[in-house]
Amino acid sequence: MADPAPLVRTERDGDVACITIASPPVNALSHAVRSGILAAVEAADADPGVAAMVIRCDGRTFVAGADITEFDRPAQEPVLSTVLAAIDASTKPVVAAIHGTALGGGLELALACHWRVAVASARVGLPEVKLGIIPGGGGTQRLPRAAGVEKALEMITSGEMIGAPAALAAGIVDRVVPGDLDREALDLARAKAAEGARPRLRDRQAQAADAERAFADARAAMARKARGRQAPEYAIQAVEAAIARPFDEGIQLERTLCTELKASAQSRAQRHIFFAEREAAKIPGIGRDTPAAKIGRAAVVGAGTMGGGIAMCFASAGIPVTLVETSQAALDRGLATIRGNYEATARRGGLAADAVETRMARIRPSLDLADVAGADLVVEAVFEDTGIKKAVFAELDRHARPGAILATNTSTLDVDAIAAATGRPESVVGLHFFSPANVMKLLEIVRGRKTDPAVIASSLALAKRIGKVPVVVGVCDGFVGNRMLRARGRQAERLVMEGALPQQVDRVLYDFGFPMGPYAMGDLAGLDIGWRIRREKGLTSPIADRLCEQGRFGQKTGAGWYRYDGGSRTPVPDPAVEAIILEESARAGIARRAIDDGEILDRLLLPMVNEGARILEEGMALRPGDIDIVWVFGYGWPIHEGGPMHWADARGLAAIRDRMVELARSHGEDFVPAPLVERLAADGKGFRDLPPPA
Ligand code: COA
Ligand code: NAD
Repeated sequence: MADPAPLVRTERDGDVACITIASPPVNALSHAVRSGILAAVEAADADPGVAAMVIRCDGRTFVAGADITEFDRPAQEPVLSTVLAAIDASTKPVVAAIHGTALGGGLELALACHWRVAVASARVGLPEVKLGIIPGGGGTQRLPRAAGVEKALEMITSGEMIGAPAALAAGIVDRVVPGDLDREALDLARAKAAEGARPRLRDRQAQAADAERAFADARAAMARKARGRQAPEYAIQAVEAAIARPFDEGIQLERTLCTELKASAQSRAQRHIFFAEREAAKIPGIGRDTPAAKIGRAAVVGAGTMGGGIAMCFASAGIPVTLVETSQAALDRGLATIRGNYEATARRGGLAADAVETRMARIRPSLDLADVAGADLVVEAVFEDTGIKKAVFAELDRHARPGAILATNTSTLDVDAIAAATGRPESVVGLHFFSPANVMKLLEIVRGRKTDPAVIASSLALAKRIGKVPVVVGVCDGFVGNRMLRARGRQAERLVMEGALPQQVDRVLYDFGFPMGPYAMGDLAGLDIGWRIRREKGLTSPIADRLCEQGRFGQKTGAGWYRYDGGSRTPVPDPAVEAIILEESARAGIARRAIDDGEILDRLLLPMVNEGARILEEGMALRPGDIDIVWVFGYGWPIHEGGPMHWADARGLAAIRDRMVELARSHGEDFVPAPLVERLAADGKGFRDLPPPA
């Protein structure tokens, strides 16, 4: 058998050594790649026939960073900083030639080179904080020296990428080239060798307009945006060292902080989410050979809260969309909201002013359902009512072109029953967006009994195109997210009846890392929807019903579980609500007691884990990681806690089972461990040990 192709190879172009990294899919810096680069750089440096070097990559991208799959093992020499020290020590100029993305260790590699040349479409960034770590290859020391402290702080604490033109303006790359990247890089290397120039970022002083202010601002921003996460603070400390200490000391500190974070529970959780997100898009039986339809035009039926947001998703991604309503007034209202949203984004600087008009122009309003005829995908977002939805789907069946995907955005109704209203149930799927649909990343793709695999493949491809994170789920009441939310909601209600107040319940979840708790969330979404549904089903919820009877529907009426004074969105605890709570507890014969925060957290989260286990048993989600993705991207579960199933595993499933058993004694069936929890815990295993779906 022939030797496998080397991951790093050197070719000569005259007196320039061209070092190529060829390690698909993203040229990550695995141990083998690091060793290969080190050997190639040392060999070229020692070779008297070589005057300069170019480091470039094969495939779709420059180096996309460290190999994340190696993080669970101890670092093995040569570590990245050893490789980069060899470039620092090189007696010959080294040029990085960047295409695709230079991320993390990839950008650090480029920053250690003496020059950086990029194609215009290239992007660069240090995304480590998104994985709960900080750069470990000198990124926190070299980036401030290249781009200044302010820019470096912004990039390192946000983890966001910037495009090549912005990187050029910031001094991160030296040239953006229109033509042949390799040619330009080779020419530059040769020219610099002739000049004898070898500028190293390590020899520069990092500049700041106002360093003290920059660090204070960065800390304030992170307290808001990354509450509870350790990595951003460590990143700030490392950048502080870049101006306060000599380069080698800064490097040392960076490594120490990075090593500590790599072993942290937070980083483990964030790495889990990174891989779970990619796994979620893989569905057994659906492969590259499953034909995915190209969506050239979409249609959305209903221009209310959800329909408007969904239409924006398409318009923003460049997909023309027909928006259908039943009355001109509803259509005008929907379009005005969409425009208002785009204009607000433009005012905040998130969108160019002319982009507002370009996007609005992609939305074609209509009062005639027959206008869906030109669409490859129709998303229904009308009232949550089976009769109305079935009628709409029967109409869609008449008007949509053969092969078009017919999707419903229902949150609670039976997708199979809706599909049965058409003569083509294989084309019907649930596309469950989350509110606000133009913002929330999660998309539950609800696979009906008869949904064609090609429709699932198309939905997955569409999700990626419109920037959503898709999870394929089965048809069950509430699908994955809302089903688990309900389990949490039942306990939230009981806790308040037994002795807690809404503000305590909400604070416990806020402290855990959720953006808000169930009561503030209820006020935001509106309490009247649940009230209406309860009345239709003959159900009651004593406290919530009384609030609604008083017209307290939440933020929109200035009062709900909290008060919202003068149009404010800040919830203020309300003694009137407390009085109602005390009365209803008394009426139910409950002697209220003080409930500690630990019990509140367990009572809220363990039923979710238990419901998640049942969802897995029933095959309504394919993997525990899929459930974690639903909760992180749809409901604000803090990413550094990795989602409910990862959280349970991290705490130890046996300990979770024991606590469930204890709580079940006083608090009933929500806590009786699901058979899957029992089985895994008895075997000393966790959800993570479940076999992958077949
Ligand atoms: N280490 C190991 N594997 C990686 C990786 C890394 N740094 N980056 C990507 N991969 C893997 C993915 O898991 C995926 O594997 P799979 O096909 O088996 O699922 C594959 O490479 C392709 O990645 P994907 O994200 O699906 O491709 P994309 O073209 O949409 O995006 C990137 C490419 C590089 C933008 C994206 O993968 C990314 O952001 N990677 C992480 C970069 C990073 O955080 N680097 C810093 C590490 S400290
Ligand atoms: P909404 O009341 O804001 O909007 C519904 C719109 O549909 C209204 O503008 C109405 O005029 C229009 N409509 C009704 N019948 C129609 C028909 N036959 N043809 C065209 N338009 C018609 O409701 P919403 O909150 O946007 O919810 C829509 C769907 O999305 C529901 O199925 C709901 O369960 C689901 N959903 C809602 C949320 C949420 O948080 N609001 C989240 C996820 C899913």
